[in-house]
Amino acid sequence: MASMATSRAAGRLDGIGTTVFAEMSALAVRTGALNLGQGFPDQDGPPAVIDAAIAAMRAGRNQYPPGHGTPELVAAVIAHQRRHYGLELEPAQVVITTGATEAIAGALLGLVDPGDEVVVLEPYYDSYVAMIQIAGGVRRSVTLRAPDFRLDVEELERAVGERTKLILLNSPHNPTGSVLTRAELEGVARVAIEHDLVVVTDEVYEHLVFDDNEHIPMATLPGMAERTLTISSSGKTFSFTGWKIGWASGPVDLVAAVEGAKNWLSFASGAPLQPAVAHALDREQDFPPQLCAELQAKRDLLCEGLGALDMDVRVPEGTYFATSDVRRYGWADGRDFCLALPERAGVVAIPSLVFYDDKEAGRHLVRWAFCKTEDVIREVVERLANADLASP
Ligand SMILES: Cc1ncc(COP(=O)(O)O)c(C=O)c1O
Repeated sequence: MASMATSRAAGRLDGIGTTVFAEMSALAVRTGALNLGQGFPDQDGPPAVIDAAIAAMRAGRNQYPPGHGTPELVAAVIAHQRRHYGLELEPAQVVITTGATEAIAGALLGLVDPGDEVVVLEPYYDSYVAMIQIAGGVRRSVTLRAPDFRLDVEELERAVGERTKLILLNSPHNPTGSVLTRAELEGVARVAIEHDLVVVTDEVYEHLVFDDNEHIPMATLPGMAERTLTISSSGKTFSFTGWKIGWASGPVDLVAAVEGAKNWLSFASGAPLQPAVAHALDREQDFPPQLCAELQAKRDLLCEGLGALDMDVRVPEGTYFATSDVRRYGWADGRDFCLALPERAGVVAIPSLVFYDDKEAGRHLVRWAFCKTEDVIREVVERLANADLASP
């Protein structure tokens, strides 16, 4: 008998039932492996933000907040966009969501009609694929190719067709760690303007950018504020990934489309957490650069460690993730490598090919999350050094 879960599920969920993270995290638990699979930090964000959430609960902020968002958080997002990027927004140009995930869902459900095409970068964050499919859209992937994972704007333009509704960007980019350059963004902007497209840009790693790289919001490019919906979240910026407080901002009609869908998904999000995140944005401005500096040190620890083991590793420009090529150890397929790794080394990583339509472009790649403590990263490197990593 077919399992009830698969036999009764709607067709719109075909092929998007489980995530690789669940599979690999279960493997980590079963084998006691250190988990560099899933991208959540080992350490919580500022204690004062937790205190603000507790205070909000004690002050009775426990019932439905406005669906649009709590006024002080809306104001804090507006102030953040002005302070960092010089973007001027009205309250109607911001909606608070249940994480960036709901903003992505709201954008795709609110903007994409069945049959509309969505141009998306691959490797992709897996919720994009799921939500494009659930919205009835058709995805057109543009590959950021190893080893340097740059965007080929001509390839992006070739992916645009008659039915293209929007371009879904992500920078800083998960999983490659690329931060789109001004030239790349200008190329996307030119295509969007020429073809009259909306750009939805997922910027959840906006503050986690290393070295001399710079995060440039798409909405700051000439002519783009009026066609760009920007998505971000407190999860990565303040190390509260479990709070799921995110937001979308941009032109009133695009934000209204997100809100129109969000109204029927969650309606409202985390009442006492919203004032706490407002506190974080307004008063914990030292935290994100500090987190970024710590992450950069962890990136170096991991990448130098992997490099010393002669692993072919691409040092990321931002995010939580580094990517390595496993062919040097004789593996053709990153999934085989990742399935063997817990037994051989007591470590879990994610095969990048699950983030690609063009499987050959990602088959040899593995993603490592370094948003863990330095002790964990050191231990991972030591375990890898003591393991036999060669292909059978
Ligand atoms: C690119 C990207 N977008 C969105 C999210 C989800 O954000 P949130 O936890 O705020 O829903 C993640 C989380 O890993 C991500 O990597």
